Amino acid sequence: MTDNGIITPDLIRVIQQGYAINWNGIHGISHFQRVRENGLKLSGLTGANPSVVELFAFFHDSKRINDAGDPGHGSRAAEFVRKLNGSAFFLERDELELLAFACEHHTDGLTEGDITVQTCWDSDRLDLWRASIWPDRDRMCTEAARSEELIRWASSRIRLQSPG
Ligand SMILES: [Fe+2]
Repeated sequence: MTDNGIITPDLIRVIQQGYAINWNGIHGISHFQRVRENGLKLSGLTGANPSVVELFAFFHDSKRINDAGDPGHGSRAAEFVRKLNGSAFFLERDELELLAFACEHHTDGLTEGDITVQTCWDSDRLDLWRASIWPDRDRMCTEAARSEELIRWASSRIRLQSPG
């Protein structure tokens, strides 16, 4: 598993500065890091664009205003990535569209779409055990993420934390 150098300390700083809730909470930095690792592992199996998947990991929950439902956070994340492309990171236009779409719709429960978008959503769903929800293989988008072994691997890296 190799990263693409797209997640830089500066990028993380920009996200942290605009992050409205608990950085060490259930949707904070440790979630971003695990989703990134899930995404890199899955990308090797699905053929997804790993740069888009890594950026999704760090941005999809970056504009939450609470740790509950927060129905607007996906759209706000999509807006945020459009604003930062060209400064905090550099994606081609079609890659940016995939990233923005994946962010905007990541809580809609969809399973169909471009393989890169599907891989983004599965990377996030593979981290559900942090909320004491065992990932449901029937809700995954890709065959790769339906592997019980992969679900166990993803879940085994989570240290359950108390809320807050
Ligand atoms: Fe998430």
